[in-house]
Amino acid sequence: MSSVSFDFNALAPEIEVRVEALLAQMTLEEKVGQLFQANLRWRDDLDDWIRQGHVGSLLSLNGAEQINRFQRLAVEESRLGIPLIIGFDVIHGFRTIFPIPVAEACTWDPALVEQAARVAAVEACVEGIDWIFAPMVDIARDPRWGRIAEGAGEDVFLGSAMAQARVRGFQSANLPGGRRIVACPKHYAAYGAAEAGKDYNTVDVSERSLRDTYLPPFKAAFDAGAATVMSAFNEIAGVPASANAFLLKTILRETWNWDGVVLSDFDALGELLHHGFAADHREAALRGFLAGVDMDMMGNAYPFHLANLVREGLVEEAQIDGAVRRVLRLKFALGLFEQPYTDPALAAQVQFTEEHRALALEVAQKSMVLLKNEGNLLPLGAGLKTIALIGPLADDHHNPLGCWHGRGRDADVESVLDGLRAVLPEETILLHVPGCAIEGDAAAHADADFDAAVSAALVADVAVLVLGEAEMQSGEAHSRAHLDLPGRQQELLEAVAATGKPVVVVLMAGRPLVIPWMVEHVPAILMAWHGGIRSGQAIADILFGAVNPSGRLVVSFPRSEGQIPVYYGRKSTGRPADSEGVIQFDRRHRSVYLDEASTPQFPFGYGLSYTDFSYSDLQVETPEVTLDGGVVVSAEVANTGGCAGVETVQCYVRDLVGNVTRPVKELKGFQRIALEAGERRRVRFEIPVRSLGFHNLEMRYIVEPGDFRVWIGPNAAEGLQGEFVIKTP
Ligand code: GLC
Repeated sequence: MSSVSFDFNALAPEIEVRVEALLAQMTLEEKVGQLFQANLRWRDDLDDWIRQGHVGSLLSLNGAEQINRFQRLAVEESRLGIPLIIGFDVIHGFRTIFPIPVAEACTWDPALVEQAARVAAVEACVEGIDWIFAPMVDIARDPRWGRIAEGAGEDVFLGSAMAQARVRGFQSANLPGGRRIVACPKHYAAYGAAEAGKDYNTVDVSERSLRDTYLPPFKAAFDAGAATVMSAFNEIAGVPASANAFLLKTILRETWNWDGVVLSDFDALGELLHHGFAADHREAALRGFLAGVDMDMMGNAYPFHLANLVREGLVEEAQIDGAVRRVLRLKFALGLFEQPYTDPALAAQVQFTEEHRALALEVAQKSMVLLKNEGNLLPLGAGLKTIALIGPLADDHHNPLGCWHGRGRDADVESVLDGLRAVLPEETILLHVPGCAIEGDAAAHADADFDAAVSAALVADVAVLVLGEAEMQSGEAHSRAHLDLPGRQQELLEAVAATGKPVVVVLMAGRPLVIPWMVEHVPAILMAWHGGIRSGQAIADILFGAVNPSGRLVVSFPRSEGQIPVYYGRKSTGRPADSEGVIQFDRRHRSVYLDEASTPQFPFGYGLSYTDFSYSDLQVETPEVTLDGGVVVSAEVANTGGCAGVETVQCYVRDLVGNVTRPVKELKGFQRIALEAGERRRVRFEIPVRSLGFHNLEMRYIVEPGDFRVWIGPNAAEGLQGEFVIKTP
């Protein structure tokens, strides 16, 4: 299923003519109307607002019939008949629900993720959705933050690759019925840096962190053709993102020369009052508009104040015209004037097809990460007579949908119990015991019944526990200060482990969890995330060896909440924990804890396989390079184990000395390679020297000559090391 992106930037000249001709007919009120997005809860007289041209867009509607009804009000009953643009949060699938985005990113397979995004676009567009409020491209290094589930993890390079893949998939050409969809990377910007991992909390990052860490995935999304962006709720160093001229004008328009539509997040302009950045909605409208927000999502700012601000001379109508032009261009480019309606019959033809469900299974299989497999307990033999399947998520048909699950339905979900039944012989005895509820899960299972769980384990050959979070414990507004197993699941785990039977844990969650006891006492742990509708089958395929797990972490797992943020691309500091240099004081006077290790439980890029891979013979083919050149480095990778497997070979660099301090490692390349048992292959990376830069003291992106280290390895914590020099020109 190949997809070519629709290029919103290649606007046909006639669109410009049509935009100007329409703009010339519009009243000031009608222009302001194009800059407002409402949902069904806006006001009882929403229909009249649309008829009067006071609404340009709607979000979160239900189905083609409803969307067609609102489109008719705009197209057939308003004065100028300007169609609405319809937005929806299609975050990891629409009707066919894929693994949550952070899990999809653990495939390290942008082409696969692009396919999944295209499926979501196909299923959404036939219902009249033109605007997908995704991809979420916020770099996230704090698993307390529930929205870490929605993005692509902690790394800029991988996050940028996933952002581009999702934009290409969402903005695919050749969608059914000639429909088009525009993507909306969000939340611009640095929303993932919320202090204490608390959603909506203050963000106070340096301009250099902004430019080198949080902005690049947005730039990547725009380079892939994203034609809209959503401004964030949070402030950055005292200035709310949705009223931040540095972000919305200096960077977006002047530096990147991007001319797409800026949509505020939900009432982010109204929230300027809570920020203490606007005294009232009139001032919020003024500050948001002058800073560069084109469209107000569900705020009481633009609809009630923007026109008056023009009449008061505080906003020029020419500025309004600029924002309206961007919105109208988008609507023309989407083809909405020619085709505002959709055929309700299309949905049943293109949604939830076998092909889509098969892709959801493939993504689920490739997203899961084998964290531990002591004594090669996994894969389990199909000849097992009795399996105890324990835990509140073992036969759960809702929570694998994950946060933001669009039109996903519980009935679509294959539970782990379903999956095991599908792969195991009839005669295998499956003893299913929930054992306890998931804390915070409304549909709580039986009360804690550890005795039943222990009894089942005692008569079984192996105990498989499916533990973790409810989907509503991650995602928006669901930050957690404690990242252990919710409720009484830890007690359940320890009770079953005490039986001495072999134990496998399948972990379902929207974030990394803090699981030190489990890591020490349980021989096999599979991180399944919230794996979408096919997660049950995917888990069974992995547990019984039909699939060799290949997922690799895109977020570090902390050993404790005290470590957070813990991520691989950290700075060295003047007292590095592992420094080789001479330190005046003893080992304690370094950047370490008295009571915790400094390394994560599991590092970025980590994941096990049922086979083994070895790395040898690193070759730096270009020991000296110039600024316009490329670094060529390679290594031999061998499958030294007993079965075929897929390895994600990763390439990291370190700029040893800079005019600003540089991270101890930065991912600059990755390749997924499939190797048969015994097979070996030289894996080669060509890294453009231009990609090794940063923003210097003058905030200019530069690459500095000097000494670099380079690694090729299986994750951020290990690998073969080499050196190269960027020569002074
Ligand atoms: C929410 C989210 C944003 C979403 C929007 C519309 O508050 O922050 O990600 O796209 O509102 O639902």
